[in-house]
Amino acid sequence: MNLKEEIYKLKKEKNAVILAHYYQEDAIQEIADYVGDSLGLSQKAAETDASIIVFAGVHFMAETAKILNPTKKVLLPDLNAGCSLAESCPPDEFEKFIKAHPDHTVVTYVNCSAEVKALTDIVCTSSNALKIIESIPEETPIIFAPDRNLGKYIIKETGRDMLLWDGSCVVHEAFSIEKLLELHKQYPDHKIIAHPESEEHILKTATYIGSTSGMINYVKEHANEKFIVATEAGILYKMQQEVPNTELIPAPAKEDNTCACSECAYMKVNTLQKLYDCLANEAPYVEVPEDIRKRALVPIERMLELSK
Ligand code: 13P
Ligand code: SF4
Repeated sequence: MNLKEEIYKLKKEKNAVILAHYYQEDAIQEIADYVGDSLGLSQKAAETDASIIVFAGVHFMAETAKILNPTKKVLLPDLNAGCSLAESCPPDEFEKFIKAHPDHTVVTYVNCSAEVKALTDIVCTSSNALKIIESIPEETPIIFAPDRNLGKYIIKETGRDMLLWDGSCVVHEAFSIEKLLELHKQYPDHKIIAHPESEEHILKTATYIGSTSGMINYVKEHANEKFIVATEAGILYKMQQEVPNTELIPAPAKEDNTCACSECAYMKVNTLQKLYDCLANEAPYVEVPEDIRKRALVPIERMLELSK
Protein backbone atom coordinates (compact mmCIF):
# COMPACT_ATOMS: atom_id res chain seq x y z
CA MET A 1 0.00 0.00 0.00
CA ASN A 2 1.28 3.48 -0.85
CA LEU A 3 0.60 5.25 2.44
CA LYS A 4 0.89 8.75 1.04
CA GLU A 5 -1.58 8.10 -1.79
CA GLU A 6 -4.02 6.42 0.60
CA ILE A 7 -3.80 9.37 2.98
CA TYR A 8 -4.49 11.83 0.14
CA LYS A 9 -7.50 9.71 -0.93
CA LEU A 10 -8.96 9.48 2.58
CA LYS A 11 -8.35 13.15 3.20
CA LYS A 12 -10.42 14.07 0.14
CA GLU A 13 -13.20 11.55 0.86
CA LYS A 14 -13.58 12.75 4.46
CA ASN A 15 -12.95 16.47 3.89
CA ALA A 16 -10.05 16.37 6.34
CA VAL A 17 -7.16 18.79 6.78
CA ILE A 18 -3.72 17.75 8.04
CA LEU A 19 -1.97 20.30 10.25
CA ALA A 20 1.63 19.48 11.22
CA HIS A 21 4.22 21.07 13.49
CA TYR A 22 7.79 21.67 12.25
CA TYR A 23 9.02 18.99 14.69
CA GLN A 24 7.11 16.17 12.98
CA GLU A 25 9.04 13.61 10.94
CA ASP A 26 9.83 14.64 7.35
CA ALA A 27 7.28 12.28 5.73
CA ILE A 28 4.46 13.83 7.77
CA GLN A 29 5.54 17.39 6.97
CA GLU A 30 5.61 16.39 3.30
CA ILE A 31 1.95 15.32 3.16
CA ALA A 32 0.55 18.01 5.49
CA ASP A 33 -1.75 20.74 4.16
CA TYR A 34 -0.08 23.20 6.49
CA VAL A 35 3.17 23.02 8.47
CA GLY A 36 3.77 25.68 11.08
CA ASP A 37 4.58 26.77 14.61
CA SER A 38 2.17 26.67 17.55
CA LEU A 39 0.63 30.06 16.72
CA GLY A 40 0.25 29.38 12.99
CA LEU A 41 -1.30 26.00 13.73
CA SER A 42 -3.90 27.45 16.12
CA GLN A 43 -4.70 30.21 13.59
CA LYS A 44 -5.20 27.56 10.88
CA ALA A 45 -7.31 25.45 13.24
CA ALA A 46 -9.47 28.50 14.00
CA GLU A 47 -10.19 29.21 10.34
CA THR A 48 -10.50 25.75 8.74
CA ASP A 49 -13.77 24.65 7.13
CA ALA A 50 -12.69 20.99 6.96
CA SER A 51 -14.92 18.46 8.76
CA ILE A 52 -12.00 16.59 10.35
CA ILE A 53 -8.72 18.02 11.63
CA VAL A 54 -5.79 15.59 11.75
CA PHE A 55 -3.35 17.15 14.15
CA ALA A 56 0.19 15.94 13.58
CA GLY A 57 1.73 17.44 16.67
CA VAL A 58 1.37 16.90 20.40
CA HIS A 59 -1.68 16.60 22.63
CA PHE A 60 -1.95 20.22 23.83
CA MET A 61 -1.92 21.40 20.19
CA ALA A 62 -4.73 19.04 19.17
CA GLU A 63 -6.61 20.05 22.32
CA THR A 64 -6.31 23.73 21.35
CA ALA A 65 -7.73 22.87 17.91
CA LYS A 66 -10.63 21.03 19.60
CA ILE A 67 -11.32 23.97 21.94
CA LEU A 68 -11.63 26.16 18.83
CA ASN A 69 -13.70 23.56 16.92
CA PRO A 70 -16.07 21.79 19.32
CA THR A 71 -18.23 20.28 16.58
CA LYS A 72 -15.33 18.89 14.54
CA LYS A 73 -13.45 15.67 15.04
CA VAL A 74 -9.83 16.41 15.98
CA LEU A 75 -7.64 13.35 15.43
CA LEU A 76 -4.20 12.83 16.97
CA PRO A 77 -2.21 9.94 15.41
CA ASP A 78 -0.96 8.83 18.86
CA LEU A 79 -2.55 9.98 22.13
CA ASN A 80 0.83 9.43 23.86
CA ALA A 81 2.18 12.52 22.10
CA GLY A 82 2.54 14.54 25.31
CA CYS A 83 4.86 17.40 26.27
CA SER A 84 7.20 17.82 29.26
CA LEU A 85 6.10 21.42 29.66
CA ALA A 86 2.40 20.56 29.77
CA GLU A 87 3.13 17.73 32.25
CA SER A 88 5.14 20.04 34.51
CA CYS A 89 2.02 22.06 35.35
CA PRO A 90 -0.69 19.98 37.07
CA PRO A 91 -3.96 22.02 37.13
CA ASP A 92 -4.71 21.50 40.84
CA GLU A 93 -1.25 22.73 41.91
CA PHE A 94 -1.45 25.61 39.46
CA GLU A 95 -4.84 26.63 40.83
CA LYS A 96 -3.39 26.80 44.36
CA PHE A 97 -0.49 28.92 43.06
CA ILE A 98 -2.91 31.36 41.38
CA LYS A 99 -5.07 31.58 44.51
CA ALA A 100 -1.97 32.46 46.54
CA HIS A 101 -1.36 35.45 44.21
CA PRO A 102 -4.85 36.79 43.47
CA ASP A 103 -3.73 40.22 42.19
CA HIS A 104 -1.71 38.68 39.33
CA THR A 105 -2.76 38.39 35.68
CA VAL A 106 -2.25 34.79 34.56
CA VAL A 107 -0.43 34.24 31.27
CA THR A 108 0.21 30.70 30.11
CA TYR A 109 2.34 29.45 27.28
CA VAL A 110 0.14 27.40 24.92
CA ASN A 111 2.18 24.29 25.92
CA CYS A 112 -0.19 23.39 28.77
CA SER A 113 -3.37 21.38 29.28
CA ALA A 114 -6.92 22.63 28.62
CA GLU A 115 -7.50 22.60 32.41
CA VAL A 116 -4.58 25.00 32.90
CA LYS A 117 -5.80 27.20 30.03
CA ALA A 118 -9.19 27.30 31.78
CA LEU A 119 -7.41 28.97 34.75
CA THR A 120 -5.68 31.50 32.50
CA ASP A 121 -6.35 35.13 31.57
CA ILE A 122 -4.43 35.06 28.32
CA VAL A 123 -2.51 32.41 26.38
CA CYS A 124 0.66 33.08 24.38
CA THR A 125 3.06 31.18 22.13
CA SER A 126 6.76 31.78 21.57
CA SER A 127 5.87 33.90 18.49
CA ASN A 128 3.76 36.43 20.35
CA ALA A 129 4.89 36.15 24.00
CA LEU A 130 6.53 39.60 24.12
CA LYS A 131 3.53 41.26 22.46
CA ILE A 132 1.05 39.55 24.80
CA ILE A 133 3.02 40.54 27.92
CA GLU A 134 3.33 44.11 26.65
CA SER A 135 -0.46 44.27 26.17
CA ILE A 136 -0.89 43.96 29.96
CA PRO A 137 -0.79 47.29 31.91
CA GLU A 138 2.73 47.89 33.22
CA GLU A 139 1.78 48.04 36.91
CA THR A 140 -0.01 44.67 36.79
CA PRO A 141 2.01 41.77 38.23
CA ILE A 142 1.99 38.62 36.12
CA ILE A 143 2.09 34.87 36.70
CA PHE A 144 3.77 33.13 33.78
CA ALA A 145 3.61 29.35 33.31
CA PRO A 146 4.81 26.74 32.62
CA ASP A 147 8.18 27.46 30.92
CA ARG A 148 10.77 29.05 33.24
CA ASN A 149 13.25 29.59 30.36
CA LEU A 150 10.79 31.45 28.14
CA GLY A 151 9.66 33.30 31.30
CA LYS A 152 13.22 34.43 32.14
CA TYR A 153 13.73 35.52 28.53
CA ILE A 154 10.52 37.62 28.63
CA ILE A 155 11.57 39.24 31.93
CA LYS A 156 14.95 40.12 30.40
CA GLU A 157 13.36 41.62 27.28
CA THR A 158 10.47 43.49 28.90
CA GLY A 159 11.69 44.15 32.45
CA ARG A 160 8.26 42.98 33.70
CA ASP A 161 7.49 41.70 37.18
CA MET A 162 6.61 38.04 36.59
CA LEU A 163 6.24 35.07 38.92
CA LEU A 164 7.46 32.01 37.04
CA TRP A 165 6.22 28.43 37.19
CA ASP A 166 9.15 26.02 37.32
CA GLY A 167 8.57 23.96 34.16
CA SER A 168 10.83 23.28 31.23
CA CYS A 169 11.12 21.56 27.86
CA VAL A 170 13.34 18.46 28.04
CA VAL A 171 14.30 18.90 24.40
CA HIS A 172 15.57 22.47 24.70
CA GLU A 173 17.29 21.76 28.01
CA ALA A 174 19.22 18.90 26.37
CA PHE A 175 21.59 21.24 24.54
CA SER A 176 25.17 21.18 25.81
CA ILE A 177 26.75 24.63 26.18
CA GLU A 178 30.26 23.10 26.18
CA LYS A 179 29.65 21.22 22.95
CA LEU A 180 27.92 24.21 21.39
CA LEU A 181 30.89 26.50 22.12
CA GLU A 182 33.29 23.81 20.84
CA LEU A 183 31.24 23.50 17.62
CA HIS A 184 31.19 27.26 17.25
CA LYS A 185 34.99 27.32 17.56
CA GLN A 186 35.15 24.85 14.67
CA TYR A 187 32.62 26.88 12.64
CA PRO A 188 33.19 30.49 13.73
CA ASP A 189 31.36 31.92 10.71
CA HIS A 190 28.12 30.16 11.61
CA LYS A 191 25.59 32.28 13.52
CA ILE A 192 23.80 30.62 16.43
CA ILE A 193 20.01 30.92 16.42
CA ALA A 194 17.92 29.58 19.30
CA HIS A 195 14.39 28.92 20.50
CA PRO A 196 13.49 30.78 23.75
CA GLU A 197 12.65 27.48 25.51
CA SER A 198 16.46 27.01 25.64
CA GLU A 199 18.44 27.78 28.80
CA GLU A 200 19.87 31.25 29.40
CA HIS A 201 23.50 30.23 28.71
CA ILE A 202 22.45 28.93 25.25
CA LEU A 203 20.38 32.07 24.52
CA LYS A 204 23.37 34.28 25.43
CA THR A 205 25.31 32.81 22.48
CA ALA A 206 22.51 33.45 19.97
CA THR A 207 22.38 36.13 17.27
CA TYR A 208 18.65 35.54 16.94
CA ILE A 209 16.09 34.17 19.42
CA GLY A 210 12.60 33.28 18.24
CA SER A 211 9.87 30.72 17.67
CA THR A 212 10.29 27.99 15.07
CA SER A 213 8.64 30.11 12.35
CA GLY A 214 10.64 33.14 13.53
CA MET A 215 13.86 31.13 13.13
CA ILE A 216 12.87 29.98 9.63
CA ASN A 217 12.04 33.55 8.59
CA TYR A 218 15.32 34.84 10.02
CA VAL A 219 17.33 32.26 8.07
CA LYS A 220 15.40 33.12 4.88
CA GLU A 221 16.18 36.80 5.37
CA HIS A 222 19.91 36.00 5.90
CA ALA A 223 20.23 33.19 3.33
CA ASN A 224 23.83 34.13 2.49
CA GLU A 225 24.95 33.30 6.05
CA LYS A 226 25.50 29.94 7.83
CA PHE A 227 23.76 28.76 11.00
CA ILE A 228 23.90 26.52 14.03
CA VAL A 229 20.26 25.85 14.92
CA ALA A 230 19.29 25.36 18.59
CA THR A 231 15.82 23.86 18.55
CA GLU A 232 14.28 20.44 17.86
CA ALA A 233 16.03 18.94 14.84
CA GLY A 234 12.80 18.37 12.86
CA ILE A 235 12.86 22.08 11.93
CA LEU A 236 15.80 21.46 9.61
CA TYR A 237 13.57 19.74 7.04
CA LYS A 238 11.50 22.86 6.22
CA MET A 239 14.32 25.28 6.96
CA GLN A 240 16.67 23.60 4.50
CA GLN A 241 13.92 23.54 1.84
CA GLU A 242 13.53 27.30 2.26
CA VAL A 243 17.29 27.95 1.99
CA PRO A 244 18.72 25.02 -0.03
CA ASN A 245 22.17 26.63 -0.40
CA THR A 246 22.61 27.67 3.23
CA GLU A 247 24.71 25.54 5.56
CA LEU A 248 22.70 24.52 8.66
CA ILE A 249 24.07 22.52 11.60
CA PRO A 250 21.82 21.27 14.45
CA ALA A 251 23.04 22.34 17.90
CA PRO A 252 24.63 19.44 19.83
CA ALA A 253 22.98 17.73 22.79
CA LYS A 254 24.51 16.51 26.04
CA GLU A 255 26.35 13.16 26.11
CA ASP A 256 23.52 11.22 27.71
CA ASN A 257 20.87 12.34 25.21
CA THR A 258 19.30 9.70 22.95
CA CYS A 259 20.54 11.45 19.78
CA ALA A 260 23.45 13.74 18.86
CA CYS A 261 21.10 16.64 18.20
CA SER A 262 17.90 17.16 20.16
CA GLU A 263 14.71 15.38 19.14
CA CYS A 264 11.34 15.50 20.85
CA ALA A 265 10.35 11.92 21.64
CA TYR A 266 6.74 13.07 22.12
CA MET A 267 6.54 14.64 18.65
CA LYS A 268 8.20 11.62 17.12
CA VAL A 269 5.64 9.05 18.37
CA ASN A 270 3.49 10.12 15.42
CA THR A 271 4.32 8.21 12.23
CA LEU A 272 2.88 8.18 8.71
CA GLN A 273 1.33 4.77 9.42
CA LYS A 274 -0.37 6.05 12.59
CA LEU A 275 -1.56 9.10 10.69
CA TYR A 276 -3.12 6.87 8.04
CA ASP A 277 -4.69 4.61 10.70
CA CYS A 278 -6.24 7.51 12.62
CA LEU A 279 -7.73 8.97 9.45
CA ALA A 280 -9.09 5.57 8.38
CA ASN A 281 -10.53 4.77 11.85
CA GLU A 282 -11.38 8.38 12.78
CA ALA A 283 -9.65 7.61 16.09
CA PRO A 284 -7.90 8.32 18.35
CA TYR A 285 -9.50 11.72 18.80
CA VAL A 286 -9.19 14.46 21.38
CA GLU A 287 -12.05 15.47 23.67
CA VAL A 288 -12.38 18.35 26.10
CA PRO A 289 -15.21 18.54 28.68
CA GLU A 290 -17.54 21.38 27.65
CA ASP A 291 -17.21 23.44 30.87
CA ILE A 292 -13.39 23.40 30.58
CA ARG A 293 -13.53 24.04 26.83
CA LYS A 294 -15.67 27.16 27.26
CA ARG A 295 -13.32 28.58 29.93
CA ALA A 296 -10.17 27.66 27.97
CA LEU A 297 -11.55 29.25 24.80
CA VAL A 298 -11.58 32.76 26.33
CA PRO A 299 -7.76 33.17 26.81
CA ILE A 300 -7.06 31.48 23.45
CA GLU A 301 -9.40 33.87 21.65
CA ARG A 302 -7.80 36.83 23.44
CA MET A 303 -4.42 35.66 22.12
CA LEU A 304 -5.71 35.17 18.56
CA GLU A 305 -7.30 38.62 18.61
CA LEU A 306 -4.02 40.24 19.73
CA SER A 307 -2.04 38.28 17.11
CA LYS A 308 -3.92 39.52 14.03
P1 13P B 1 6.74 27.05 18.60
O1 13P B 1 6.00 26.15 17.69
O2 13P B 1 5.87 28.14 19.12
O3 13P B 1 8.00 27.59 17.99
O4 13P B 1 7.16 26.20 19.87
C1 13P B 1 7.99 25.11 19.77
C2 13P B 1 7.60 23.99 20.62
O5 13P B 1 8.29 23.51 21.45
C3 13P B 1 6.29 23.41 20.39
O6 13P B 1 6.12 22.38 21.25
FE1 SF4 C 1 6.97 19.87 24.58
FE2 SF4 C 1 9.52 20.47 24.22
FE3 SF4 C 1 8.46 18.51 22.79
FE4 SF4 C 1 7.74 21.07 22.31
S1 SF4 C 1 9.75 20.17 22.01
S2 SF4 C 1 6.38 19.31 22.51
S3 SF4 C 1 7.86 21.94 24.36
S4 SF4 C 1 8.72 18.56 25.03
